Amino acid sequence: MHGVMTPLFCETFHKLDLVDSWITPFIRLSTHTPKKSSLAKKIYPFIKYNKKTTVQLLTSSDELVTPTIEKLISLGINDININFACPSKTVMNKNGGAGLLNQFGIMNSILQRIKNDFSDINLSIKIRTGINNFNEIENLMTLFLKYNLDFIAVHFRTASEMYDKVYGGFERIKKCVKLATGTNIIASGDIWEIADIDKVCEVSKCHGVMVARGLLKNPFLIREYQGLTFGENKIQLYVETMQNIMKNDVKQYWKRPSYLANLKNLFGESSEEFNIAKRLDEKTLLNYNFFNN
Ligand SMILES: Cc1cc2nc3c(=O)[nH]c(=O)nc-3n(C[C@H](O)[C@H](O)[C@H](O)COP(=O)(O)O)c2cc1C
Repeated sequence: MHGVMTPLFCETFHKLDLVDSWITPFIRLSTHTPKKSSLAKKIYPFIKYNKKTTVQLLTSSDELVTPTIEKLISLGINDININFACPSKTVMNKNGGAGLLNQFGIMNSILQRIKNDFSDINLSIKIRTGINNFNEIENLMTLFLKYNLDFIAVHFRTASEMYDKVYGGFERIKKCVKLATGTNIIASGDIWEIADIDKVCEVSKCHGVMVARGLLKNPFLIREYQGLTFGENKIQLYVETMQNIMKNDVKQYWKRPSYLANLKNLFGESSEEFNIAKRLDEKTLLNYNFFNN
């Protein structure tokens, strides 16, 4: 998740062992191929403890993907995901993310180039279900199925729906599963709790789920789905783990905006805790105990 999976986020997840593998936030390729050192810095928080990491790229250039993937392979990456999903106007206007969903030539050239140049990597994509209309999904799937993709992660909204309330989202995933005939569909969208995971799997028969905002709110969600329990003090455990990480390496991990963003997701924007946190100065915030006051 772009802007959210900071080094602090990754380190906290690693320390509490909350995931088995990662998909990185998108790395944008616009005008040039990033230096190997820059790619290494971006992916380091994910690969640090040897967890399987899929690197997500966002681009409209088939020419930039090959040299970038070569560098990623030399850094130990075997799994690449292409983002055709980001609905941000800035990104879409520059022919990126979901902005490519009506540009079949460009999507073809990117996927074809990767398939031609790298026979051994696992290639997957992340999509929205169209730009303006869910019916666009039929032609999109026909295109994607040509590439023998590892999986297609589908956020059921169209780009123009942004994060609007959409009825029948899981039914849309079901339609994608039917259209995908054999390619794995990973469901995304409005999966907040275990009941939602059960429901989307039951309704759509998808092959997996991708959790985003639900995981920011409850970082234990994946492990809880797997049957682990963390007790009623789990948010305290998470916040204290973050605090210890930041205190042990202030230079690397302490960033007020990033910590505040975490607190907002965990406690809620209108919570007393977040409102206190917003008012505290840096040093007090870093040491503040939200649980014994
Ligand atoms: C802050 C934020 C950052 C995101 N960054 C990415 C990203 O880098 N790549 C991506 O494929 N999706 C990204 N997404 C979209 C999510 O993967 C997901 O498809 C979407 O939020 C719907 O799922 P949800 O309802 O579980 O949040 C992001 C979502 C959020 C909220």
